[in-house]
Amino acid sequence: MQFDILTIFPQFFESSLQVSLLGKAITQKKLNVALHNFRDFATDKHKTVDDVPYGGGPGMVLKPEPLVNTIESISGKKKSKCILLTPRGTLFNQKMARQMAKLDQLILICGRYEGVDERVCELVVDEEISIGDYVLNGGEVAALVLLETVARLIPGVLGNEASLSHESFNEGLLEYPQYTRPPELRGLKVPKVLLSGNHKEIEAWRGSQAIKMTKKRRPDLLKKLQNEKKPAKEPT
Ligand code: ADE
Repeated sequence: MQFDILTIFPQFFESSLQVSLLGKAITQKKLNVALHNFRDFATDKHKTVDDVPYGGGPGMVLKPEPLVNTIESISGKKKSKCILLTPRGTLFNQKMARQMAKLDQLILICGRYEGVDERVCELVVDEEISIGDYVLNGGEVAALVLLETVARLIPGVLGNEASLSHESFNEGLLEYPQYTRPPELRGLKVPKVLLSGNHKEIEAWRGSQAIKMTKKRRPDLLKKLQNEKKPAKEPT
């Protein structure tokens, strides 16, 4: 899969793309990430990427030409989507990531300052996405979140496909608590059932713990799951 990231801070991504599973997947050519500094496509000799907003107001707005020109310089693949990272976008989730992982190409625009000239959205953006209800200094952190979430769903990237099928099996619930050795630490013992070797009982315990955890921390998720499972009403 091809990722094209438009940013004025390409250095921001360098270490993240070199380490861990993302770095390995890039080395193994399971995915390719191209960083495009859209300042290079500015049209004036000072390489200006921002300007004051029409109508006044605080802050600066990203000019349209550098972004549109950069997008036009990128060779488009068959199944491709251009996404603007912005706090006003649709809230990102795992379901959206799964859809994106089916594409050949994701073009990610990292916004900055007070926003992006609206004509960029009209001309080149397919979807606007937010990673949460808070405001970052720019879209770079959000692009990295999206990149990592989508990349690990590409076959062969995670390296442990069992983890993925486990995640989708437990879809909608928070994870149950995990333990490793030693069996006792400072008086705290690992739950007996996990040492029993009884896989059926272990599975049941983990299921009930996941529900308990979700009920306590994310009751909204549990409600959503219950609504999804309700059979559709018969027409009267
Ligand atoms: N840019 C600034 N804040 C953001 C957010 N919450 N999500 C995506 N892009 C952003």
